Order: sequence, then C-alpha cells, then structure tokens
Amino acid sequence: MCGIIGVVSHRPVGGDPATNSGVGQILIDGLKRLEYRGYDSAGIVLADKGRFTSKKATGKLSALSQAVKGNMPVGNIGLGHTRWATHGAPSCDNAHPHFACDNSIALVHNGVIENYQTIKTKLAKEGHKFRSETDTEIIVHLIEKYHKHHPPLESVRRAIEHLEGSFAIGVIFAKKPNILIAARLNSPMIIGLGDKETFLASDIPAILPYTKKVIYLAEEQIAEIDASNSAHRVNIINFKGRKQPCQVSTVAWDAAGAEKEGYPHFMLKEIFEQPAVVRTTSRYYLDTKTNTVKFPALTGMAKQLSAVNRIVLVACGTAYHASLVGKYAMEELCRLPVEVAYASEFRYALPVLDKRTLVIAISQSGETADTLAAIRAAKAKKALTLAICNVLGSSITRDAMVTLYTFAGPEVSVASTKAYTTQITAVILLSAYLAKLRRTLTPKDEKSLVREMLALPDKIEKVLTLNDMIADYADKYKDVTNFMYIARRYNLPNAFEGALKMKEISYTHAEGYGAGEMEHGPLALVDDTFPTVAIAVKSNVYDKVISNIQMVKARKGIVIAIATEGDKFIRTLADGVIEVPETPEILSPILTVIPLQLLAYHTAVKKGRDVDQPRNLAKSVTVE
Ligand code: G6P
Repeated sequence: MCGIIGVVSHRPVGGDPATNSGVGQILIDGLKRLEYRGYDSAGIVLADKGRFTSKKATGKLSALSQAVKGNMPVGNIGLGHTRWATHGAPSCDNAHPHFACDNSIALVHNGVIENYQTIKTKLAKEGHKFRSETDTEIIVHLIEKYHKHHPPLESVRRAIEHLEGSFAIGVIFAKKPNILIAARLNSPMIIGLGDKETFLASDIPAILPYTKKVIYLAEEQIAEIDASNSAHRVNIINFKGRKQPCQVSTVAWDAAGAEKEGYPHFMLKEIFEQPAVVRTTSRYYLDTKTNTVKFPALTGMAKQLSAVNRIVLVACGTAYHASLVGKYAMEELCRLPVEVAYASEFRYALPVLDKRTLVIAISQSGETADTLAAIRAAKAKKALTLAICNVLGSSITRDAMVTLYTFAGPEVSVASTKAYTTQITAVILLSAYLAKLRRTLTPKDEKSLVREMLALPDKIEKVLTLNDMIADYADKYKDVTNFMYIARRYNLPNAFEGALKMKEISYTHAEGYGAGEMEHGPLALVDDTFPTVAIAVKSNVYDKVISNIQMVKARKGIVIAIATEGDKFIRTLADGVIEVPETPEILSPILTVIPLQLLAYHTAVKKGRDVDQPRNLAKSVTVE
C-alpha cells in the first residue's frame, strides 16, 4: 500500500506563484490522487542548492496541504509519499521520506522489507543512526553506505541486493538535483514522460494531468532519470546491473476520470458510472452485428482452452465475489468443475494444478500481492493463466499468459463498485466464449445472452433512479448495529458483497449468508430490531428465497427485499421493496448489487463516515 510520487522538472524553481505550479504543488496534487493507497500520514521533500527541505504531517493529506500553505518547499526535484502504516505507528518520525545520516539522500518506499531487523542491527553497529521505527529507513542507510564509493545508480543497485520482501522506491540525492531513481520488486511503479519533466508514481492517476506517456517499470528493474539537459534520459537496468530495453506506452484514461466531477464522493460518482462502464466492457467483448461473443486475445489459445478440464478463480475482496458469480456462470454454461479460492489461501494451500487447469485471477488494480502470488504459483505448476484486470500494464497482467481488460476507468474510492460490475460482465462473457469452444452453448442461447447483456446498461440506469428512495431506507436503518444479507445462487455473492460494502464504509456489522443456511444458525439473531436484506429476484430459486423471507418474518424480523419489477406478492411480505428490472438470473447480480452499493453509501454518509477512505483500509493491498 502507500502511494509514491517523484518529479524532476525544468519548471522555474518554486513554480509560477500565480498558478502555484512548482514541483512542490505537483507532489501534493499527485499525492491527493494517490491518497486512496494510504492515508495515515504523508510527506514531501524537495532538493535545492544542494539541500533538502521536507515537510511531513500525520493524518490525511489535507494536514500536509495545510502545513505547506505559504511555506511550500522549493526545488526542481522532489519526492512525495502517502502512508498506510505497516511497521511503526502513524507519526511524523515514521512518515516518509526517510533520510541518510548526513541528510544527503532521501527515499520513499511502498512495500515491506521482511529482513529489515537483521540489516538494521548490522547498520547500527556500523554507526548508522535511525530516526524511525520503519522497515523503510534501512534502505536509505544502505544506499548511503554504498554511495561513499559508488555513483547513485550503482549504490541503489547494491543496496537493494540485500532486501527481501516487496518494494517500490524513489530516491533523490541532495547534491545531484538532476538524478531521480526508482526501483521495484513486487510493488507497482511507473515512469511518466512529460514535457521537460519526468515523473515516477505508484499509479497512473497521479501523473495524468501532466502526461499520458508512461513506462511500466518491470519486476527487478531500476530506472535512473537523468535530467541534466531538457531531453531527459531514462536508463533502465536490472538488479544484476544489465541494461534493459524500455517501452513507452500511451494511457487511454483521461485526467477527468480521476476527479469527482461534482459528486460529493468518488464512490457515488463510480456507482453512477456503471451504465457506461458496463456498456464499454460488454461491447468490447461482443460482436453487435452478429450478437455473438468475441475474444480476439484468446484466439491463439483456443486449442489449450478447449482442453481445459477444470477452472480455478483466484481473487481478494470484492473481486472474490465477482469470481463467485463467475463460478455459477462457468459451471452452468461450460459444464466444467470450477473452484473459487481466496488468493491469500490459494498461494499457501498446495493447490493441485496441471496444464489442463485454467487459473483466472480477477483484480481491479492488478497489484494485489496475494493475487499476484497466486497467479505466479499457478504458472509455476504449468497451469494456463488468465487475468481479468482493470489496470493496463499492472503486475498481474504481466504475469498472466493473457489478460482480458475491464474498462471501468480509474476507480478511486477504496470500496469497489464499478470494477465489480465490469468484472462480472467480463467473466460471464468469458464463460459464454469458453462454452462455445466446448460446444455447451447453442448459437441461439448465445444470441439471447448477448441481447440481454446489451440491454443491461439501460436497466442499471433505471435502478439508479431509485437513489433517493434508497437514501430514505438508509436514514431509517442507519442506527441499527447489525445487518443480514441473504440470497441464493447467482445472487449469493451479492449477499456477501452487500455486507462487505456496509461493513467497510459504514462500520456497521453485516453478514452475507446463503438464504437456505439461515435456519442453521443466523435465524437465532433475528428479532424485531434486526434488518435482513433479501435478494429475491425472479429465478428458479425465487420460491425458495420467499420461504426464507417467511422464516425471518415469522420471527418478527425486518425485511428489505430486492425484487423484480412488478412483483406484487413480495410487497405483502417485506417491510420494504426495491425493484430492479427483469433480466435473466445469470445477469441479475449486475443489477441487484446497485441498490446494495447505494444502501451502504447512504448509510455511511448519514453516519458521517469517511466514505472514500474508510478507516484502517487502503485500496491497493500490496502487502500480505
Ligand atoms: C482491497 C480493496 C477492494 C478490492 C480488494 C482486491 O481490499 O479495498 O476494493 O476488492 O482490495 O483488490 P484488487 O485490486 O485485486 O481487485
């Protein structure tokens, strides 16, 4: 977790005061766009005339913005960091940047150095003085040690040879204001190529206002940006010191995608973007002339995919719930055994895999440490690997044999919404494609699925018109201490997802449960103060869910039902009904999750929670 930004620029030192456009402001603005990665403390450092000036503050980035007001450090090169604490409490001492003993080198770090204690003890014996409790600080002292005899790039290379764990680092030297260094192992890092200025960052949104030209630093690479003249030179080597080619890509996202655009929170904006992003994602994998699915990226693998005899989906968090929907779709359409595993479990579970197993990793960021490790473990066992991912060039996309992108655009809110519905869209269409290869889906059924998929964005639009009504429900139930979410089959993952959304942003305890499991325990919780959200859309398990609702009502429980438009019967049962348009059960999770997202959102707002940046969490979990 943690967000990093670095800049070396030919702008006037201090920038134009009228537009506040100096390097310091670029760092602060970039950190603002990376704040979703961590928000317990932050810091910046700039070098000018051979000296560093740094500012740090605990708490959210607004505290640092306040601290630099009228007092912004100046320089043509600098680093910034927003922290999600792993080693050492959130404090100014532990906030990054960290410095060498003689304050000649500054460093920011995202990741965890697992062997830091051993290195720290050794360095302390050699006379290094530490000012923080972090694992990070040892890196800058190691660089300092080597810099006595080596130039910057070689000192960084020698230092990181000692490190175990994960890191993306940015390093600057007070007396070398034209040299910016970045390195990575198991944590993301990109380099942005601007006009007479070069950036490094943990993620694309940080640098989008300045450039769309990026280099994705690969695993075990170190980059040195030399800004001695206006045509900046990027020199990339691997950890062994060998020169590496560097490939420049152009990012398709625009800067507006990473702004709130008038919405009070990113989460609400992202919920309302769902019709558009589901449309874009589905159309990318559909031929709308023939109403068929198309996956050109998979053509070269068609033979191997036809021979697959088992599928394993691996993911974390919300992406895990999308994988559960994928399991139902793949089993139904492809008639293959499908498992879903938490990536954090899969990597340590000695999974049985071979070349006829297809392992699919679903991840918004493409950087979740456990999901990345799971895909690598699958690769090591010679399984076929495929990623469903939202971020171009991210680590998981590089490790998987092939990637199917979701087109959700930048998702900034920690609580995932639009990434989820696009993941479900992609995994269902992929299921249809695999089913075609296996001849378990008839052309007629394929066409009908495609037509329904194309109709879905307008139906999502319709669900979004219920926003005010759902806000009223949130108002009514905002003070309850527990929520239960129940469903069956395709909508069961949404029971888990609805509960997760409620927990993570409103801090209200919530559980998702298979409706048919209620009588095996959770029913004991039900009384007249206890609300259950039941997903009961028209499907072949509708009657079963209705029976489960009856059980709750018989115990005087409160029931809010998510039902199909026009279902009059359910109104006689439930205390509240939120209607979604009719769609085949396989696609219904894309509709039924929308009210659950909005219910959690409004509950959190009404409880005064920090919706986009809930306590203790971060969006990109790049540590185990
Ligand atoms: C974190 C985020 C979730 C996300 C999960 C997996 O917990 O807060 O929104 O679902 O990580 O992330 P990924 O990027 O792999 O989808």
